Amino acid sequence: MTDHPSAPVPARRKVTLPDLLARSASGVPLAMVTAYDAPSARLADEAGVDVVLVGDSAGTTALGGESTVPVTMDEMIVYTRAASRGARAALLVADMPFGSYQVSDEAAVVNAIRFVKDAGADAVKLEGAGPMLTRVRAIVDAGIAVMGHIGLTPQSATLLGGYKAQGRTAQAAEQLIADAIALERAGCFAIVLEAMPAIVAAHITAAVRVPTIGIGAGSSCSGQVLVWHDLLGLLPGSTPRFVKQYAQVGELIGQALASYVAEVRSGAFPEPRHTYGMPDDEREKLEAHLKPR
Ligand code: KIV
Repeated sequence: MTDHPSAPVPARRKVTLPDLLARSASGVPLAMVTAYDAPSARLADEAGVDVVLVGDSAGTTALGGESTVPVTMDEMIVYTRAASRGARAALLVADMPFGSYQVSDEAAVVNAIRFVKDAGADAVKLEGAGPMLTRVRAIVDAGIAVMGHIGLTPQSATLLGGYKAQGRTAQAAEQLIADAIALERAGCFAIVLEAMPAIVAAHITAAVRVPTIGIGAGSSCSGQVLVWHDLLGLLPGSTPRFVKQYAQVGELIGQALASYVAEVRSGAFPEPRHTYGMPDDEREKLEAHLKPR
């Protein structure tokens, strides 16, 4: 159906899965970013990102943990519901946390449905291939779109030998290519490629028709994703080599908070313009009342 010619043109209409396919086929890389709350998702949406990912990276970025493993379904539901209120046009993908899909296809479907029905997600993402392929199929058969994720899969970092690049031998690279093809066949609409040689990501991107979204996977992917806190320089300390910080927002926030503390202590804040007044006659009545005390 086409819009009526005189209908007001919305700022940006909802990004659909065919849009993502068409955009990536046209050669314009897709932009995806994580967000965990409504104002952040709204800023990302207004900046024109194609996909907002409510990543389980929330476990480290927002919850301050050491890894993503302890993140719960209930926590991810709260973050996703909040982000869904900000992401109007961008496709909203919710990351299935560790333990929410590994046990059985049934559990995976139940939890994927919670993300869509209770939290407003458009799609879900899960990590891995191999035994996870039946999970992907089961969720897709339930009518929910699934984004895959291979390479460095942080939920299984221990098995992978730590947080390090994957697919650096010919054999490991071939396995990643086979995994990507299997995920596409299982029904994934896109696949995140995390921390792998650019050449391996390029071969994967050539081998599948669905968009690949890279993070530490070079420029041949169909799109890129960065974590909100990394992109904006919100956290102190070093970042992985694949991160580009587009701002130092953490520093700016620190300066603003230090000014606030100093002004509260010196009495410079609040000023009269930040303060409510009272009609003179009411004030006089009050003070006359209080005087005898
Ligand atoms: O949890 C997350 O933020 C992710 C991205 C790094 C792809 O999975």
